[in-house]
Amino acid sequence: MARPTTTYVCQSCGAQTRQFFGRCSACGSWNSLVEQSAPASDGRRRPAPAADPQAPGRPRRSLPMHSVGEGARQRLSSGYAELDRVLGGGLVPGSLVLVGGDPGIGKSTLLLQSAEAMARRHSVLYVSAEESAQQVKLRWRRLGEQLLAGEAPRAEPGPAVDSPGAGAALHLLAETDLDQVLQEIEALRPAVAVIDSIQALHDAELSSAPGSVAQVRDCAAALARIAKRQDTALLLVGHVTKEGMLAGPKVLEHLVDAVLTFEGDRFASHRLLRAVKNRFGATHELGVFEMRDRGLVEVSNPSELFLGGEELSPGTATIVACEGTRPLVVELQALVSTTSYASPRRTATGIGTNRLHQILAVLEKHLGLPLSRFDCYLAVAGGLEVEEPAADLGVAAAVVASSRDLTLPPGTVLVGELGLGGQLRPVGQLELRLQEAARLGFRRAVVPRGSGLGGLAAQLDLQLLEAGTVAEALVAALGVNPAGDA
Ligand code: TYD
Ligand code: MG
Repeated sequence: MARPTTTYVCQSCGAQTRQFFGRCSACGSWNSLVEQSAPASDGRRRPAPAADPQAPGRPRRSLPMHSVGEGARQRLSSGYAELDRVLGGGLVPGSLVLVGGDPGIGKSTLLLQSAEAMARRHSVLYVSAEESAQQVKLRWRRLGEQLLAGEAPRAEPGPAVDSPGAGAALHLLAETDLDQVLQEIEALRPAVAVIDSIQALHDAELSSAPGSVAQVRDCAAALARIAKRQDTALLLVGHVTKEGMLAGPKVLEHLVDAVLTFEGDRFASHRLLRAVKNRFGATHELGVFEMRDRGLVEVSNPSELFLGGEELSPGTATIVACEGTRPLVVELQALVSTTSYASPRRTATGIGTNRLHQILAVLEKHLGLPLSRFDCYLAVAGGLEVEEPAADLGVAAAVVASSRDLTLPPGTVLVGELGLGGQLRPVGQLELRLQEAARLGFRRAVVPRGSGLGGLAAQLDLQLLEAGTVAEALVAALGVNPAGDA
């Protein structure tokens, strides 16, 4: 019997060799050779996907767009509204979802909990390639106590497969061998399968170690084929490597339908789930969870998490950031103090340092504040990352308030992007932001001029202060001229 052969294929020029080299001898690029198992001629390789039952043996033809069937794409609820929203309204049957995140952030916990919730209506297979069956069972029992204690996620209407919390339809397989996992998925035909994690799976036909690029890609491709064929939704766990990439050099992102990242501070209890790619919904949707001693609990009102809660102090400003379609009221804190260094220190947590530098430069130039003689520290409460420029005005207000030792009147939110000329630029989704602010009891909003939302503000009982420049906005917010006699 012929030995299965392995070839190494250069990912930039396609050259093939039988031996591994650090550098491709054909095109000279480094680290571009990836192991591939050559299709064995003795039929040992796992069978190819069955031909389309509708047209056995016949060549596939194209169809006019209007006559292409859409199929019954009814989404499955994951049992958690926060996860469903990030997925774009639930899991699509036959789709492949990659859930990435740092080790220890809670990926296994999240997926085991939703596997348990989904198993009330569908058959679910949980493949643990990292932990033993006993370890998963222990964790499941611990989580089950929470689920039974009344904090259970909302179950889908309809007949339960078994008594709630019993997990009768939740199957567990502790296995690292790819072929075994594929066989089990084929035999069980679950509606949903969780693979924890893709890096720990191993295809015996490749000689490279589990977690290597070749292994991860090969395993994911084999799983993708079976998922599409049997309409099983697959949730893959992927650890983020040291370089901050999923499963090495982003090898999986093009292959899957959705990429979710689970992030958060390991020392804080809340966790943020985001979609960075989604073929079935919007990206940048945000789901918020809290890690408790008995697993993850949804946070359906996250603005309260990102508000300081205490008395406002000088240097604090409140903004409304938008994550996808979700507005979040967030508190910013600035500390401005005389520097004792030759070049002042500027540190920002949760906001890009370059953005902070730019805002400080605008304030220095257009308000005449001598900020280059001051250290400036900025932090976003709750460890949130705010990327959008709509936070600019809030940052400016926090910095000015701290440097002049002023306190913003309570109940004020600020929204607006700062132009380099000191002008205030309009921002998107202002309506949503104002509604969220009003819902949380804010009474004044400083926004860019020309919002056209006077009517809405009146309805919301919100005082709308429109400003054309950062100077005008700060006068409106603080009630005094911030440039004053600084
Ligand atoms: P885990 O889901 O194992 O992380 P990952 O799969 O992403 O590596 O989560 C591990 C952390 O979560 C661990 O540090 C302990 C914490 N945790 C809790 O705080 N409460 C719980 O109920 C569970 C199950 C875990
Ligand atoms: Mg894990």
